[in-house]
Amino acid sequence: MSSPRFHMSSPVHGTGRRKSRFTYRQLTLLTSYSTSTPLRVIAHIDLDAFYAQCEMVRLGTAEDQPLAVQQWQGLIAVNYPAREFGIGRHCTVTDAKKLCPKLISQHVATWREGDEKWAYHDDAAAHIGTHKVSLDPYRLQSRRILALIKESLPSNLQRVEKASIDEVFLDLSAHIHSIFLQRFPELAYPPPYDDPTEKLPLPPVTALDWQADALVDFEDAEIEADDPDWDDVAILIGSEIVRDIRAQIRRTLGYTCSAGIAGNKLLSKLGSGYKKPNQQTVIRNRAVQHFLSDMKFTKIRNLGGKLGEQVVSTFHTEAVKDLLHVPVEQMKLKLGDDTGVWLYNTIRGIDVSEVSSRTQIKSMLSAKSFRPYINNQEQAVKWLRIFAADIFSRLVEEGVLENKRRPKTINLHHRQGVQTRSRQSNIPQGKTLDEATLFELAKNLFIQFIQEGKVWPCSNLSLSVGGFEDGITGNRGIGAFLLKGDEARESKGNLREDPAGPVTHERPEKKRRVESPGIQRFFPKRESSSGDPEESIDDDLTGTGNSKIETKEASLNSSGSRLWPATEYVKVCTRCNARLEGAEALQSHLDWHLAKDLQEEERGNQTFASHQSTGSRSQKTAAASSSSLSSKKSTRGSTSSTKLEQGQSKLKFG
Ligand code: CTP
Ligand code: CA
Ligand code: CA
Repeated sequence: MSSPRFHMSSPVHGTGRRKSRFTYRQLTLLTSYSTSTPLRVIAHIDLDAFYAQCEMVRLGTAEDQPLAVQQWQGLIAVNYPAREFGIGRHCTVTDAKKLCPKLISQHVATWREGDEKWAYHDDAAAHIGTHKVSLDPYRLQSRRILALIKESLPSNLQRVEKASIDEVFLDLSAHIHSIFLQRFPELAYPPPYDDPTEKLPLPPVTALDWQADALVDFEDAEIEADDPDWDDVAILIGSEIVRDIRAQIRRTLGYTCSAGIAGNKLLSKLGSGYKKPNQQTVIRNRAVQHFLSDMKFTKIRNLGGKLGEQVVSTFHTEAVKDLLHVPVEQMKLKLGDDTGVWLYNTIRGIDVSEVSSRTQIKSMLSAKSFRPYINNQEQAVKWLRIFAADIFSRLVEEGVLENKRRPKTINLHHRQGVQTRSRQSNIPQGKTLDEATLFELAKNLFIQFIQEGKVWPCSNLSLSVGGFEDGITGNRGIGAFLLKGDEARESKGNLREDPAGPVTHERPEKKRRVESPGIQRFFPKRESSSGDPEESIDDDLTGTGNSKIETKEASLNSSGSRLWPATEYVKVCTRCNARLEGAEALQSHLDWHLAKDLQEEERGNQTFASHQSTGSRSQKTAAASSSSLSSKKSTRGSTSSTKLEQGQSKLKFG
């Protein structure tokens, strides 16, 4: 790793300020990733046009070749050369080809009905009825990138949080602390009078070389001239670490990514999206106010959707600047205590959330929405076979063959019209789980639906496994594979022996957060701000036939690539504000939410809805939690459009 570049100056400090603003205690707190030290450094790394880059690397296309990833007739990822032609995720393949005839439009890999394994099929787009999307190729690349990031950081001084399929947060604090002590030995001396509240000496530095970073400016040129303090040095070192990581990813795996380096997650995430592609943005503490004040708060994570709208209509502005004048009491009054305080802090760039090492999968789901609906058992069974194969291949990655971990329960959800039913059963323990067993269990659950009648036409089926348990793997402590939260940083890199091996990712176990009590319940995805489908519903629920469906908060992205055609057919999802073309697309999108909800239930994460919603969502959650492990029945009437929206409209989504 290259070392940070400093222009050393004489130790005499020109400004008359003889001491740092920071204390010995604040310095030491870096070693424990404390959220209360102003010296902490957090980075957010996000891959550029991720799925598109995966295809570019796989196909070996030229860097400047426009390429998009196709799912049925829609586009789900567009590389930067193609974006120059005005192509975005809103385009159909036909429109995109008109804009750029030389566009390569690569369809995602699919499982074909009856096949044992997913593959890239040339004719997939025409076969939505018999194929199911597989995101496995992208998961694999995601794992390789994550493994490389972890390898490039010191194993005992890292904290890495996978936030979605193509992004991570890094808490670089402890690593930077160790570099501080190496480079500035005076910091290792005990504080004067052994008093940790004593101020540190100033750094022996007058100018920091920020190389190619996009540096967010300060409001006041005067401050720029001021000597840097330790927070600047820390963030500079962080920026160098991140630059090296990005270069390694590029060199070793061929991918470009963008990054933000700042004092917390909120700002680092805004930083990574600030300049794309292949750039990094540093937001120093002294630049935060200026950085945020020119921004629309609707660009901030969790303020892109319903909550953002509510704030706009309450305070009649979209500008952070205007909100800065609103006293916290008034925010609390208008939005409730939790949300008010959260908003007050957020627009000031205050965020004390931790980077938590979450790598454990809690459940896996494989699903398919049928358009046209399916009408017989033979069809259903074919899909169950695919679901079983899909889930099993992911279980293999998760170490089920070596008995590292295994799921305890299996669920099948069936949808007919507005009715969603689910059945659950135990997965027999004792022998190594195999695909045939999963398939048999799934079929048995399906037979239960049939025995009750009213199965056809079926519009959606989804199979999931959950209740993962740790297995016994011989002498080696399983603990090394199963790191949670703080344990992770103590361990050797949080990695399995095979760097490309099963570092889990689809269903990271959520670590309970200590900060912002209450506010998290408003957000469906607490960390995955981008809404990438990593957590994941890897499938077709996001696209049906000719309709293109965006499953994420379009407004959160500043790239401008997610605009929607303003036609009268556009429907808006009241849960997440996604704009959908036509009723069919909306219905399918709601199916997607439903599947997501089911996943949430799997996860046991019932908090966010139950507080606010008295509608169907809480009933549904209650129904789910009351279902026992022994194929218990839970029939849910009207969980789709109408009621779902009623319940959800009370939620504040981002
Ligand atoms: N994705 C998707 N459907 C969505 C949103 C995202 O399939 N509704 C996929 C995209 O294909 C993308 C990946 O998730 O490649 C990551 O999403 P995101 O980071 O939001 O966009 P990128 O395509 O990576 O583009 P950017 O360079 O703006 O990050
Ligand atoms: Ca991305
Ligand atoms: Ca992303």
